[in-house]
Amino acid sequence: MEYLQLMVYFTLTPFLFLHVSKAEEIISTTITVDLFGKGNFTSVQKAIDSIPSNNKLWTRIHVTAGIYREKVEIPPDKPYIVLQGESSRLTFIQWGEFGDSGRSATFKLYADNFVARDITFENTYNHMLSSDVVTNVTWAPAALIQGDKAAFYRCGFLGLQDTLTDWQGRHFFNTCYIEGAIDFIWGGGQSIYQDCFINVTKSRLGASGTAYITAQSRESEEDPNGFVFKYCAIRGSGPAFLGRAYRNHSRVVFYQSYFENIIAPKGWDAWDTITFSEVKNIGPGADMLKRVKWVKHLPEKTLEKLVDISFINAEGWIENQPSY
Ligand SMILES: *[C@@H]1O[C@H](CO)[C@@H](O)[C@H](O)[C@H]1NC(C)=O
Ligand SMILES: *[C@@H]1O[C@H](CO)[C@@H](O)[C@H](O)[C@H]1NC(C)=O
Ligand SMILES: *[C@@H]1O[C@H](CO)[C@@H](O)[C@H](O)[C@H]1NC(C)=O
Ligand SMILES: *[C@@H]1O[C@H](CO)[C@@H](O)[C@H](O)[C@H]1NC(C)=O
Repeated sequence: MEYLQLMVYFTLTPFLFLHVSKAEEIISTTITVDLFGKGNFTSVQKAIDSIPSNNKLWTRIHVTAGIYREKVEIPPDKPYIVLQGESSRLTFIQWGEFGDSGRSATFKLYADNFVARDITFENTYNHMLSSDVVTNVTWAPAALIQGDKAAFYRCGFLGLQDTLTDWQGRHFFNTCYIEGAIDFIWGGGQSIYQDCFINVTKSRLGASGTAYITAQSRESEEDPNGFVFKYCAIRGSGPAFLGRAYRNHSRVVFYQSYFENIIAPKGWDAWDTITFSEVKNIGPGADMLKRVKWVKHLPEKTLEKLVDISFINAEGWIENQPSY
């Protein structure tokens, strides 16, 4: 239960800044979803549908333990939702569709101002319980995150390819578990992944496959987006590249993280205008001796701006979201 231990270990840091500054918003309504009929709804989507369009008050959807076999979509006109599970090991939203990294996602978020806690999103299409090699890997995301100001605490994302489609907007992933093998954290999100556990499942691709943890798609030097991994652990089976560029200004930083000995020695697979950087990481996979020559050595000031929470939190939205 290494994963659990790490999760406990990792839970301390996030709260250091959550309790500074302004009063957080309060929750006006709680809707309970329970598979066994003990709540207001038995389906998560029905609970979302029941929230009035363009509602301005935070609504909590409490999803009790169970495996909810449904695709769930939060449309743009349903902001201010807290999706609260029982624990990432007990509450699952699960579906198994493939073929289009947008449409097939089990969970789709298009609304701004969102919080998820203690819940796991899973796409079972490639992600089977056995450790058998998967021969027909395809796009099958567990989640597509396309709203602004979304935070995820103690959530799980299970899939194989494109697991977490971090598409657009500012996002905070804290103490999350993310599993996959190919481009499994990808898109144009402006995100900080803090204290997350990243499980690379390269073994499921067989001998010929290649694993890539990230595929970030920043398109120009002016775009504010990028992925910052801070105090994370990368484990599992390799070799895995830390990233490949999906667009030519791709930006990914790994900062003070632990790499098991599964990182492909070259580290990155891409071309010149990208910013791929590794700073103060530890573990046997963090040896940079054989890294591609173009790994960026960011000036201290640039690095500070990227790894600080202000990278995604300019107006302090994170501490204003309901914290329970
Ligand atoms: C990582 O994924 C593999 C393959 O699915 C699984 O066997 C292993 O338990 C996972 N590791 C953790 C720490 O959850
Ligand atoms: C949910 O069910 C509870 C208990 O029956 C009830 O008090 C509450 O008003 C319901 N909430 C909504 C939003 O329907
Ligand atoms: C393999 O994936 C393709 C699409 O990429 C799909 O059409 C086909 O049905 C899949 N085969 C199996 C056995 O799942
Ligand atoms: C890279 O981005 C520039 C714009 O900054 C664009 O003109 C060029 O076509 C892009 N190249 C590739 C290979 O996408």
